[in-house]
Amino acid sequence: MSDSPFSEELTARLQVMRADLESIGQSHLLEHVEGHSPECLESLLDRCDEIDLLSAHAFIEQASASEFEAPPLDRITPAVSISRHPEDEEDLRTRGQQLIDAGKVAAFTVAGGQGTRLGWNGPKGSYPAAPLTGKPLFRLFAEQIQAAGRSAGRKIPWYIMTSPINDAETRAFFRDNNYFGLDRTDIFMFPQGVFPSCDDAGRFMLASPESIAVNPDGHGGSLRALRNSGAIEDMQARGIEQISYFQVDNPSVRALDPLFVGLHLDAQRSSGEMSSKMIPKSSPEEKVGVFCSIDDRTCVIEYSDLPEELAEARDDRGELRFIAGSIAIHLLSVDFVDRITAKGASVGLPLHKAHKKVPHYLPNEDRMVSPDAPNATKFEMFIFDAIPLAARSLVYETDRVEEFAPIKNAEGVDSARSSHELQLERAARWLENAGHWFPRNEDGTRLADVEISALTAMQPSDLEACPDVPESISAGDQLAI
Ligand code: UTP
Repeated sequence: MSDSPFSEELTARLQVMRADLESIGQSHLLEHVEGHSPECLESLLDRCDEIDLLSAHAFIEQASASEFEAPPLDRITPAVSISRHPEDEEDLRTRGQQLIDAGKVAAFTVAGGQGTRLGWNGPKGSYPAAPLTGKPLFRLFAEQIQAAGRSAGRKIPWYIMTSPINDAETRAFFRDNNYFGLDRTDIFMFPQGVFPSCDDAGRFMLASPESIAVNPDGHGGSLRALRNSGAIEDMQARGIEQISYFQVDNPSVRALDPLFVGLHLDAQRSSGEMSSKMIPKSSPEEKVGVFCSIDDRTCVIEYSDLPEELAEARDDRGELRFIAGSIAIHLLSVDFVDRITAKGASVGLPLHKAHKKVPHYLPNEDRMVSPDAPNATKFEMFIFDAIPLAARSLVYETDRVEEFAPIKNAEGVDSARSSHELQLERAARWLENAGHWFPRNEDGTRLADVEISALTAMQPSDLEACPDVPESISAGDQLAI
């Protein structure tokens, strides 16, 4: 009889996993298991299978061999973008609205990030984002989807990507809020994939005796997650043709934008595979990726990768040449996502590396370590790296106040405070555009605060004859309509 505390079956699994990990130089992950219980080993082997360490290793190796290198500067030109009000705006809007009303556009929120900068104790989507009512981000999107569904006379499905870290909490938040009035069968939630983090010697790490240290695979991981979760099949079964992609931390996003859909469908301008919105950067230093064209292919170069000479370059009128900042709002066709994910795990997106602090378990000393300084590399994919895979890709200019009020940080730039300011300014502008008087100082400063629910208005014209808007708004008013 063997002395091993492990069953024959478990021992056999251990041997196979050992051989696999040896083949990729990661067998240290199993060195400690002899001193632990069968349950601990089983759990560790399950995690290794789930993460598919062999594929992850191959992917990381391949990606590390082809790190991003900016091509010679003369091959990088600014991407061409469509102006905010194209000549045929009304036709395009009508066309886009028809597709939305036909139930062929789904909303898709990526909400798998760790939100470390914000430091909120819960999924980012549960953060109170509305300036007066404090409605959480998820509710703000739900209201838009409900309003769009109401005007279309049909339910509009909402796909939400979580991560293994926040999936259960996100589901509970939706349950506790009664799905924000939406039908739960029209909400399709799925966790994204992960990559193992690597220490500075390139070794995978343990998060505990029975688990591997991993991180979510980035918003670009949404593409393979859409396939692996069955969301693509679900979309095909529902007759969805286009996916309206947005991030969880932008309360001002138009979750379903008819004009953008119309532009994306216009064969003169786009292949209808992947389109993007941009806003003019406020300064060369603003930390957003920039739309460029490399050898006639549209792409986004991360702010940290854009050569300074280009970031600072100005044209004859003194404007930034590389001015088109990416705000992570895209339309993707279901066929496009289906095509680029057909090959499986790699999707063809490069990996981006970030050197971070990763707490981990030291098996030799049987203790956890919480490092004070970055000790490991996290790998992530970015959604905008899919843009060059589209046959032709359109970039549409929009306005910061209208559509981009991100909440990323606890304070300062891109915080709740800056987002509230943008949301309140947009509401004031909408009222003014709809012909209402709004109290302002001579220098234009707002003297009242109004928050507008998407259930009241999706655009300024909805406020024209709206019974919820009071006769007059006075200085000092704080009003949620
Ligand atoms: P950010 O890049 O701002 O990252 O994500 P984050 O994780 O939310 O925040 P920090 O960097 O830790 O402070 C932009 C969007 O992409 C989603 C986020 O949820 C957010 O909507 N995202 C990011 C994912 O869904 N998965 C990821 O792995 C990373």
